[in-house]
Order: sequence, then C-alpha cells, then structure tokens
Amino acid sequence: MTWLKSVTHTAMEKAAPSIDLEFAEKLREQFGTPLYILFEEVVAAKSSSWEAINQPVHLSYATKANPTLEVLRWFADRGWSLDVASEGELRAALTAGVSAADCRFHGNAKLQSELEFALGAGIGEIIADNMEELEMIASCVGGQTAMPRLALRVAPGVNPETNAKISTGGAASKFGFSWPEGEVIPAWELATELGLQPSGLHAHIGSQIIDLQASKESAETLGQIAAEVESRFPHALKSVNFGGGLGVANGVPSPKEYMLASLETFPRKDLEFGFEPGRSMVADAGKTLYSVAAIKRRQGKLLVSVDGGLSDNPRPALYGAKYDVEPLRKSAQTESADIFGRHCETDLLFEDIQVPTDLEIGDLLLVHGTGAYNATMASNYNRFPRPAQVFLRSSGEVQLIQRRETYQDMFAREILPR
Ligand code: LLP
Repeated sequence: MTWLKSVTHTAMEKAAPSIDLEFAEKLREQFGTPLYILFEEVVAAKSSSWEAINQPVHLSYATKANPTLEVLRWFADRGWSLDVASEGELRAALTAGVSAADCRFHGNAKLQSELEFALGAGIGEIIADNMEELEMIASCVGGQTAMPRLALRVAPGVNPETNAKISTGGAASKFGFSWPEGEVIPAWELATELGLQPSGLHAHIGSQIIDLQASKESAETLGQIAAEVESRFPHALKSVNFGGGLGVANGVPSPKEYMLASLETFPRKDLEFGFEPGRSMVADAGKTLYSVAAIKRRQGKLLVSVDGGLSDNPRPALYGAKYDVEPLRKSAQTESADIFGRHCETDLLFEDIQVPTDLEIGDLLLVHGTGAYNATMASNYNRFPRPAQVFLRSSGEVQLIQRRETYQDMFAREILPR
C-alpha cells in the first residue's frame, strides 16, 4: 500500500498534509481505528527548519513527545541526540539502536538505580536537578565509571504564558536548581568538590510556548548565571542548553526565530549552545483516525462519540487542548457537533466541530496535530487496547511502527492470587 496519491496538501504547504477517504478506509481495514498516523515528510520538514540556523547548535529530540522506537531511530539517524527523562526512555533509545553516548539524561527525581543504569550504559550527559542527585552521581561514579558531561538544570524564575501544568521555569518550580533561591552557585560548588566537573547550564522553562518574551528573559538570566559561574570557576562553563518548549499553533515563531531569541539575548557567543524540542518536531506530523461509534441529538445539539477518547488522547481533559477535526466523507450540508470518546465519563474531546448533517456510524474522522504527547500518554482506561501507529514514509511506503495492543498484552502483567 502506498499513501502518496492519497494525500492532499493544504495551504499550509507541506506542514499539514491530509489523507483522502479511500486511503483512510484502507488504513482502517488493515490496522483498525483509532489509529495514529505519522507523516515522515512533516517530521523531516520540521527537522530541516530547526537545522536551518546558520550557526553550530546542538539539537536533541525530546523523546517524551513520541518515544516510539522507530521515531527515536529516525532522529538519531539524522544526527540528533536524544533527551531522555527516565530509565525507560533511555532503554527505548538503546533498544532502537541509539548509543547511550548520544543520550542526555533529564529528570527532577532521578533514582539511584536509574543513574547507575545510565552511567553503566555510558550516557553522554546528565542534566542534574538537585543536590542529592549530585551526591548520588558521585557515589555511582566512584572512580570506575567514566563521568559523562554534567550540566545543571536551573529554574531561572521565569513564567512563560502557558498552561500551569507545563510551566517549569518559575521561582516555585519543582525543577532544577532555583536561581531566585540562590541554589545554582552552591550546586556548582558541590559538583566541583565532588569531582564531577560541571560544564553546562540548562533551562527549560515550559512547553507550548508561543511568545518569545519568556525565552528572552530566561536567556538573560542564564547570562547572569553564566557570568557568576565564570567569575567563580573560570573556563569551567562550556555549554548552555535553552531547552525545548516551542509551541504549535497558528502564528508561532519559527524554530529559527525561537532559537535566535535566546542566542541573541545570551551575552556570550563562545560557548556550545543547544535546544531540545519535542512537540514542535512531531505534533503536526501526527493525526488520529477515528470511526464514529454513536450519534445522538440532545437539546438540538449533535453529540458524536468516536471509538477512542481519553485513553488515546488525554490532552483535551488535562490541558484543555484544542484540535482540528476533519470528517473525511464530505457533504454539502454540515452542522456543529460535540465529539466525545467512549469512556465512562463525559470525555469531551473536540467541541463545535462541523460534521455532515447525515453523519453515520462508521464515518471516519481525522484529527490533526496529534503527533506529540498522544501515543506517549495513552492509557488502558476502561481496558481499551492502545492504538496502532503507522509511519507514512516519504517514499510512499506505509509502515506499521507500533501494533495495536492486544488483550493478552494488557493482562500479561496481572496475577490472580489464589
Ligand atoms: N526538555 C525538557 C527538559 C522537557 O521537560 C521538555 C518537555 C522538553 C525539553 C520538550 O518540550 P516541548 O518542545 O515538547 O515543549 N504532556 C504535556 C507536555 C509536557 C512537556 C514536558 N517537558 C502536553 O501534552 O502538552
């Protein structure tokens, strides 16, 4: 099966391809719905737009956005390193054939066992979050394991305009060494005393950021921190990473604008600089295909339930996230509908969506922009098997990269004690 002839590109050129009804029906026949669909050409276009900055910048893909093994391998093949935030994400990278040396280990509460695993595997960089972690790293290294690069995650005291759940750089943040609370220099001192040779600063102030002001403020504060580190530990600082966070929405800055906001604000130019985008790499590349499973009319309003919901996309419920939804069977007459999932609660997924007035059970709905933080946050709520994921390669090939979960998979961990 090839998808090439079945795709229409909207006015937003390659960033937002869609698929036609005939092809969607073939996908459903072969893989079932709900189905996650990922377009390689969009991931490639996104990568190119990050790479298009005319200066050496280290780019890492934030694994958490879509940690499917083939996606990790794809980024590694392209020369990107991977930001991993747990032993599980690191193991995913290793299983995908990515070298631990090309992985950078994040986390605000890393476990000793995770640090031992990462160090034993030869992790490339650790971004340390707290004093206890520095002690743990030192105890793991113990003279035998080679010490990777060490950066300190800092909370610069900057609150970007975004959902509170994904804001991570404020003075009250649980993440990193707080600059406003005076933790950064003591942390650098401790890391130095412990022989860990800290060489980097890192700040990730949040996700789904669409305005550059907060990024500039963060880079400015990082500049002050860098100056302080330099005065206490001359030449120790080698790199600064500005995190990920670029949002997806109409009118967001381009990756280049996003990077330049930090790079031009940060006062020094003689260090290695890095970014670690997740959402902006894969969100627009992904779609979810649903079948309509129930239709009702309530107080004049059309209520449609699809064959998935909260378990394959918790983001509307968690963050009030909005998505574009496209009914694939076109009709001259449309009306507004609220679209729900089929979980045992009022899981409103998409509000006020234009659907054909004669919408039928089995009609296909395509939801755009679900490539980030959907498959990775899926659950088995109501014992729904998690969806399959297909990769539509630029060559035209349709590749299954994650099969649908089976009921056997689901019950495999469970024990019925006698
Ligand atoms: N670096 C660090 C240290 C991070 O914690 C994150 C995301 C990123 C990079 C990538 O950020 P991005 O470019 O994707 O914004 N589940 C939420 C998103 C949580 C983001 C967590 N950290 C959602 O569905 O919106």
